[in-house]
This record gives sequence, C-alpha cells and structure tokens, in this order.
Amino acid sequence: MHWSDRPFELGTRGRRAHLAVRGLSAGYGAFLVLRDLAFDVRPGLTVVLGPNGAGKTTLLRALNGLLARQGDVLLDGNDLPEATHEIVRAGVALVPEGRQLFPQMTVAENLELGGWLVARADRRRRLEQVLQDFPKLRERASQLAGTMSGGEQQMVAVARAMMSAPRLLMLDEPSLGLAPRMVDELLVIVRRIADAGTTVLMVEQNVKKALAVADRGYVLERGALVASGPARLLARSSVIREAYLGAESTAPDTTRPMARAATPG
Ligand SMILES: Nc1ncnc2c1ncn2[C@@H]1O[C@H](COP(=O)(O)OP(=O)(O)O)[C@@H](O)[C@H]1O
Ligand SMILES: [Mg+2]
Repeated sequence: MHWSDRPFELGTRGRRAHLAVRGLSAGYGAFLVLRDLAFDVRPGLTVVLGPNGAGKTTLLRALNGLLARQGDVLLDGNDLPEATHEIVRAGVALVPEGRQLFPQMTVAENLELGGWLVARADRRRRLEQVLQDFPKLRERASQLAGTMSGGEQQMVAVARAMMSAPRLLMLDEPSLGLAPRMVDELLVIVRRIADAGTTVLMVEQNVKKALAVADRGYVLERGALVASGPARLLARSSVIREAYLGAESTAPDTTRPMARAATPG
C-alpha cells in the first residue's frame, strides 16, 4: 500500500481561505530579509520557489507569527493575528522546515500535539479522521517518531498540521531529503489536501515537481518576488531556469517586473 492510495477526506467545509499579503517586510533584527512583498494565496495550491537563502523560510515564519512582520496580512479580509496560537486558531497551520517532530514521542503523541488547540471533545474525532486519511500512521501509531524514515516523518508532520483542521496549510520544503518516489507520494497528498478544500501555500526548491502539482507560483529571489503566474506557464519561463541555477548565475537586476513569467520565454 502506498501513502496516496486512499482518497482524502480531510477538508474544510465552507468557504475556502484566501490570504492577501500587502507590503510585507520581515527579517532578523536590523537585517531585513523580505522587502515589501505583495502576493495572494488563493484557494488551491500556491507554490513559492526560490534558491537557498531567498527568504522562503523567513516568509513562512513571518506569516506564522514566529517572526515580527510589517505590512498587511489578511485572511478572508480579516487581519491575521500576530501570535502563533491565535494564528492557529484563525485556521493557519505550518509544516516547518526539517519537520520538527518530537523524536522520543510516538506517532500518536506527535499527532495529539498538533491538536493542542482543538477542543478536547473534538480532538479524538480529529485524530480518527487524520488516521483515516493516513492509514499507514495508524499502523505506526505507537512507534517512536525518531525511528521512522525521512519520508514517514514528513507524513507525520503533515498529518500533525492537519490535526488543527486548518483552512490554510503552509509547508516549508516538504520534499527536502526525500527519495524521489516519496516526493511524488507526498506531493499527491498535498494536492489532495488542496482539492479537499484547504488552501495550501507550499515553499519548495524542487521546482519541476512543485510546478507540476501547483495551480499558481511565485519566484522569490533575495527577498523579493521576481515572477508569478499560473504554474503551467511558470514552468516554461526563463526565470525558472535562473531559479534552478541559483542566485550566483543571475545578474543583480532587481527591476524585473512581476508577472513577466506569465509570458513564457
Ligand atoms: N535566525 C537568523 N538570523 C539571522 N539571519 C537569518 C536567520 N535565519 C535566516 N537568516 C538569513 O535570512 C536569509 C533568508 O533565509 P531563509 O529564509 O532561511 O531562506 P530560504 O528558506 O529561502 O533558504 C538568509 O540570508 C539567511 O542567512
Ligand atoms: Mg528555508
């Protein structure tokens, strides 16, 4: 049995989430990484691509309340709160870079931690739903998370985030370090989560595979968005080739217009 054999049932009933970001800046102390970003995460699957150090993790940390930010972040027209626990309550969950599981705890215990803000009465039902959607994790419920393979741990991290029944799921390079077949299975599951009604914002360096499953994409370079467009068009654009090759091969030209990748070049 593969991870992606089952249809996905998890999902948000009701209106699908839309995140609107305007004038977002964030960084570390005096070091500003993100400068004045504006973008939208519409229902479906949006991917942010970019080389190492572009600011992808900084972006997700700023949206998740782990870093101070400036600018407007609106979830369905309402200001996103600043504190992480309030952001989770508002319906936003993050699968962090490097998974960040508790290796000495069991799979079930890791999942339960993902539901810490879910009302006690709902927690059991939520866990049951997550185990239905990730049947392999039911088999592994009492295994220590630290003894699982990288791919299995990534599935636990995604399942843990789904425990809070998010309306917006953010993933930070979920394919990092996984075998190609596992990357494919993981991306199928991410796609299903989006199709079941949870809006998804995924940060990736696996450009080809990410664009193959995404609806829309943005390219982040040195803290600025340099291209955006439908995933299919972006996949054929020249800017993507540059992102592939990394920042060192790109001329230091920060004046490139947004959405230039919408015209395949
Ligand atoms: N904790 C930190 N303190 C200071 N600078 C940081 C910290 N984390 C990341 N940076 C810097 O911020 C920039 C963007 O990093 P990051 O968001 O991790 O990029 P990416 O996720 O795209 O690889 C890099 O120049 C990195 O060195
Ligand atoms: Mg990162």
